[in-house]
Amino acid sequence: MNTGCFDEVISRRGTNCAKYDEMDEKYGKDILHCGVADMDFRAPEPIREACRKVTDHGIYGYTNLPSCYPAVVGEWIRREYGCRVEDEWILFSPRINIGLNMAVETFTKPGDRIIVHTPAYPALTDAVNKHGRIMIGSPLGWDGTRWSMNFDAMESKMDASVKMMILCNPHNPTGRVWEAEDLKAVESFCLRHELFLLSDEIHADIIREGRRFCSILSLSEPMRKRMIVYQSVTKTFNIPGIMFSNMIIPDDSMRQAMKATVDREGFHNPNIFAAAVIKPAYQECGPWKEELNRCLDENMSLLAGYLKE
Ligand SMILES: Cc1ncc(COP(=O)(O)O)c(C=O)c1O
Repeated sequence: MNTGCFDEVISRRGTNCAKYDEMDEKYGKDILHCGVADMDFRAPEPIREACRKVTDHGIYGYTNLPSCYPAVVGEWIRREYGCRVEDEWILFSPRINIGLNMAVETFTKPGDRIIVHTPAYPALTDAVNKHGRIMIGSPLGWDGTRWSMNFDAMESKMDASVKMMILCNPHNPTGRVWEAEDLKAVESFCLRHELFLLSDEIHADIIREGRRFCSILSLSEPMRKRMIVYQSVTKTFNIPGIMFSNMIIPDDSMRQAMKATVDREGFHNPNIFAAAVIKPAYQECGPWKEELNRCLDENMSLLAGYLKE
């Protein structure tokens, strides 16, 4: 695939984009806005081609997911992250943020307490606080080289009202990619306290050289009965405006409960562009992601060198 396009400067101003137009209004035009997590690269060509077909057809009616949806997502998870996943575990959610909110509503009650590691991506804390649940903010520790979870501090806050932990992996905003041993520690903590575990893995594909992403899907069967994994390739391919994501729910009764919530909330159809891009994104754009990561590695070392100077 001719991936190209990582060195073109493309103006996004005047497109109602949250990253520039909204931030210009708040903070002025003279700064480089980094507060919204999308990139300034054009999406891979197979995705743009699928969008062009939809646009040119000209009828933008209610649309269903393609029948290949769970299979292409499952294949990506097995290939990219080396985890076991059954296609039937995979449910669609328009956005990860919506899926997280739905799980908080489905599996906890107002007044229940939920652990979130801090600093936190604001939508995770909103999922707790805006639903009348009580957040236990558990500060990550910094040892001069990397961030870590503080299990002793978490332990000291536990009682029967704590029902859930929300993990962010890779962690936004610190960038920490949790390793197998971190996830094992999360697992034994959650099982001991009978917590549900939600893992927001939206940045799984954007990984620096030498690191390997490890999903909570690799944890044990007892933990799989209490987990929901949130993944999406909308960050990967810089298409978060198209809005689609996956909720991976290994346990059948949890999955049925979430299906009932999705039905109650009325999310019956995906966006027409989401339906069109899912197959090409998962099946044809892997090489673009590899090139993106190489480009980001170079940008990181350029920035690090510049700051050092
Ligand atoms: C950690 C994290 N989760 C979720 C989202 C949003 O995902 P979605 O657009 O699917 O709601 C973001 C966006 O910045 C994010 O950084």
